[in-house]
Amino acid sequence: MSDQPSQTIALVTGANRGLGFEVCRQLAQQGMTVILTARDRNKGEQAAQKLREERLSVIFKPLDVADDASVIELSQALNAEWDHLDILINNAGMNFDFQQPTLEADVNEVQQTLNTNLFGAWRVTQAVLPLLKNSQQGRIVNVSSGAGSFTGPRGILEQGDRLPAYAISKAALNALTIKLSRSLKETSILVNAVCPNFTATYPGTEQMGARPVPEGAAGIVWAALLPDDGPTGGFFRDQQPLPW
Ligand SMILES: NC(=O)c1ccc[n+]([C@@H]2O[C@H](COP(=O)([O-])OP(=O)(O)OC[C@H]3O[C@@H](n4cnc5c(N)ncnc54)[C@H](OP(=O)(O)O)[C@@H]3O)[C@@H](O)[C@H]2O)c1
Repeated sequence: MSDQPSQTIALVTGANRGLGFEVCRQLAQQGMTVILTARDRNKGEQAAQKLREERLSVIFKPLDVADDASVIELSQALNAEWDHLDILINNAGMNFDFQQPTLEADVNEVQQTLNTNLFGAWRVTQAVLPLLKNSQQGRIVNVSSGAGSFTGPRGILEQGDRLPAYAISKAALNALTIKLSRSLKETSILVNAVCPNFTATYPGTEQMGARPVPEGAAGIVWAALLPDDGPTGGFFRDQQPLPW
């Protein structure tokens, strides 16, 4: 065991780029040790190195959230090095299928999307839960989307027949968030879903109105740093509740 009892440790999935990378930066800027995970070893190592060059405490571990063996390998590596984990950010996500009509959707592709966006978060949570339970202040943040809201603006009721895989995966992730919060209600672990809002993680999206990445990441970090009497089983954007 290399850690000290007071060391705060966070783990972020899908963190080689985009919001996950920025969340690692903002959490590490709080003084904690961040485990940056990515499915591509080279990209993950490079991303962690970049943050270490900013004098932040960031460690890389490989993790493909869609792969059971990879998740087991990660949990074994964590158990060998740490006796607790304080924050889990289920950020890895894929397939914003905004042009795909529901009736023509490739169901295999939908399955892959669910395997990452829903089951990925689920299997990683299960795998690290023993370590999270050893934390004094466990926090789980599922990075969701307003696209998975039923009644919110640009949610499922407003989308027509497009975005089936992504919207359904995020609606299911929201449901999982509620279920986990109920399962963990006797613990100190708070579980919430957060929508970062339309965020400029790809070139050209800023011109389409996307917000800067640090702004999108801030709402996720807020949910990771909630006080003990903070909400659980909620869905938020910019610290404000979103409709399911
Ligand atoms: N950006 C937005 O406007 C927006 C809005 C609402 C919600 N969100 C949500 O925010 C999260 C991050 O989005 P983003 O914009 O930062 O997306 P992004 O730039 O495409 O990053 C997604 C990350 O997830 C990783 N990933 C995908 N499949 C994975 C797997 N099986 N195992 C591990 N990592 C995997 C990707 O790795 P590779 O590089 O290897 O593909 C990448 O690091 C997602 O859950 C997304 O749905 C984003």
